[in-house]
Amino acid sequence: MSISRYHKINPNLFKLNRKRFARQMKSKSIAIFHSNDLMPRNGDQYYQFRQNSDLFYLSGLDQPEAIVVLFPNCIKDGFEEIAFIKRTNAHIAIWEGHKYTQEEASEISGIKKVFWLDEMDTILTELILLADRIYINSNENDRYQSDVISRDLRFGHELMKKYPTHKYHRSQPILKKLAMIKSDIEVGLIQIACNITDQAFRRVLDFVKPGVLEYEVEAEIIYEFIRSGANGHGYNPIIGSGINSCCLHYNDNNKECKNGDVLLMDFGAEYANYTADLTRTIPVNGKFTKRQRKVYDAVLKVMRNATEMLVPGTTLEDYHKEVGKMMESELIDLKLITKHDVEKQDKNAPAYKKYFMHGTSHHLGLDVHDLGDRYIPIQAGMVFTCEPGIYIPEEKLGIRLENDILVTDHQPIDLMAHIPVEAEEIEELMNTIPIHS
Ligand code: GLY
Ligand code: MN
Ligand code: MN
Repeated sequence: MSISRYHKINPNLFKLNRKRFARQMKSKSIAIFHSNDLMPRNGDQYYQFRQNSDLFYLSGLDQPEAIVVLFPNCIKDGFEEIAFIKRTNAHIAIWEGHKYTQEEASEISGIKKVFWLDEMDTILTELILLADRIYINSNENDRYQSDVISRDLRFGHELMKKYPTHKYHRSQPILKKLAMIKSDIEVGLIQIACNITDQAFRRVLDFVKPGVLEYEVEAEIIYEFIRSGANGHGYNPIIGSGINSCCLHYNDNNKECKNGDVLLMDFGAEYANYTADLTRTIPVNGKFTKRQRKVYDAVLKVMRNATEMLVPGTTLEDYHKEVGKMMESELIDLKLITKHDVEKQDKNAPAYKKYFMHGTSHHLGLDVHDLGDRYIPIQAGMVFTCEPGIYIPEEKLGIRLENDILVTDHQPIDLMAHIPVEAEEIEELMNTIPIHS
């Protein structure tokens, strides 16, 4: 069966995720999860479909209009977990392409009972009347705002109108706690995303020279992603040369890379819906200037030291404070701030923030800024980015380095340890004759 570009994922991942979610549910409750909408573009076109991360996490189902229902201890035997998918048959497949058969959906998700969507009203009504409580899912990322209402929420509103006397609960707090800790299968998928990202970076090292355009670099990256079975980018890539290296969310990627400038690239392949998140900064002409190299090495030192701190028990608040201190000392050495600036600084707006204005780490997984609770101390199984940077617009010089790190009960494991990062190695690779496959 050819359903996705990625290899078949062991359904135990999804079975276990459902089991862990169900364990957190209150008694006599039902939880309903929807796939993402197909997002309209213009005319009769839609944007490329991307599955809802939560629905995927609980089922592995990767097509629109899929629904998962969890009802632990349901009195109706066999209905503890069920799914609904869009009806298909040989005739529909000719017009619309292949969609999951019930058997395929069952095999992918490990959910035994898979029904057609047009059977949902009848089946779900009966189940809801057997439950006292309903869990509704919604995007509770506190940095997310959108006028577009999700399928999950639309359905939630309908349920509330139809069943006003049920008790309603939030699925997200449970999902956040579960998704923060990655299983071995998930780490394996993130590792594949990192490996594809590595290949793309090496391709870029062969390609970049003065005069290339930022979007030509972007084209090299997407070429390598797609040919390696990735869905594409896990987030909009930042390919910024010169002054653009100082723009944190630069996505125009339309300028020429000039001799003597650096090129900051923040990109990550998405494989099986899991994403990598890499940043590298390279010299456009293959050799860092003395000043660029000094700033580069300072950022690399902070990245290495910060990585060591990603161990169980540390709180993210303490971690960020410590990294701030490391950065402070580097910026003093680089003569960008003075000890005096630090002495007189407002502790809510420390001096280092002038040159390093963003956080150092975020959870990574199905989403680049993955579900997580930033008030829970670091635990084994979490995957974080580590991404310090120094941005000096007056020198048209922005340097950020970013690797993806798995927390363990021992030393942190750098999932990007094989991706070139030492300045000498980058220079050497940029100055060897490329051998393209
Ligand atoms: N690429 C987004 C980030 O680094 O957080
Ligand atoms: Mn990041
Ligand atoms: Mn990034």
